Amino acid sequence: MSAVEAFAPRATLNIRDVSKSYVVDEKPLPVLRNIALDVQPGEFVSIVGASGCGKSTLLRLVVGLDADYEGEILLNGRRIEGPGRERGIVFQEHRLFPWLTVEDNIALGLDGSDEPQHVLDKRVRDNIALVGLAGFEKAYPHQLSGGMAQRAAIARSLVTQPAILLLDEPLGALDSITRAYLQKELLRIWQQERVTVIMVTHDVDEAVFLSDRVVVMEPRPGRIRSIVPVGLTHPRQRASVEFARVKGEILRDLSGE
Ligand SMILES: Nc1ncnc2c1ncn2[C@@H]1O[C@H](COP(=O)(O)OP(=O)(O)O)[C@@H](O)[C@H]1O
Ligand SMILES: [Mg+2]
Repeated sequence: MSAVEAFAPRATLNIRDVSKSYVVDEKPLPVLRNIALDVQPGEFVSIVGASGCGKSTLLRLVVGLDADYEGEILLNGRRIEGPGRERGIVFQEHRLFPWLTVEDNIALGLDGSDEPQHVLDKRVRDNIALVGLAGFEKAYPHQLSGGMAQRAAIARSLVTQPAILLLDEPLGALDSITRAYLQKELLRIWQQERVTVIMVTHDVDEAVFLSDRVVVMEPRPGRIRSIVPVGLTHPRQRASVEFARVKGEILRDLSGE
């Protein structure tokens, strides 16, 4: 893959009829069935669904960590084969290396890049500023709060200028106040960078606050039950009637009524 493709600024993602099974006790365990989802450039899509319905598995397939599935996943029209710099991912745990500083953790994603060092250094600085961690470049992960560590993880995922950002319950381990604050930060970062985002979350409120569309999955095997367009302008008012209506629709779909 050429460097130009690797830094495609915007991404169209097509997930076409994807099914996946794991083998457990020598028997196939169907985990995803006939998943179809098209994500437009710059779109923010959330995925909600019961634990075990295959949300993380789906993200793993999009990241390219697992090629053992049926169907196809296309990024800008090309089949995904293995991980690539044009896709960044953030997990619930920050997964920063404890022996590296914030800036070194973030710079790690740029290893092997053939751009000049001063460009890479600037990219690291810009992303630290983007997530609000200026002043903490030399801090080690254990010196950061949970929210700050997630900010660093977000910066690390963005430093390669990915076309698509995959978030697997990125705020799931944070207290509610930090979480609400980082939701606004995610919104700001998304609006600033215009990156395509797919976020898995347990929190319907969070999904409605941030997303253009919310994919509701159902379990055993994981399928898409519905895709709910949010259709509200930002910043969204959680106390509004419209917000409650969309949230109610998603919650109804989730509970299978
Ligand atoms: N490597 C694996 N081997 C076997 N089964 C797995 C593996 N990873 C996940 N599973 C199973 O696949 C299902 C979906 O898991 P996962 O994608 O993590 O769901 P979610 O993220 O929605 O909670 C679960 O039943 C889980 O136990
Ligand atoms: Mg998961």
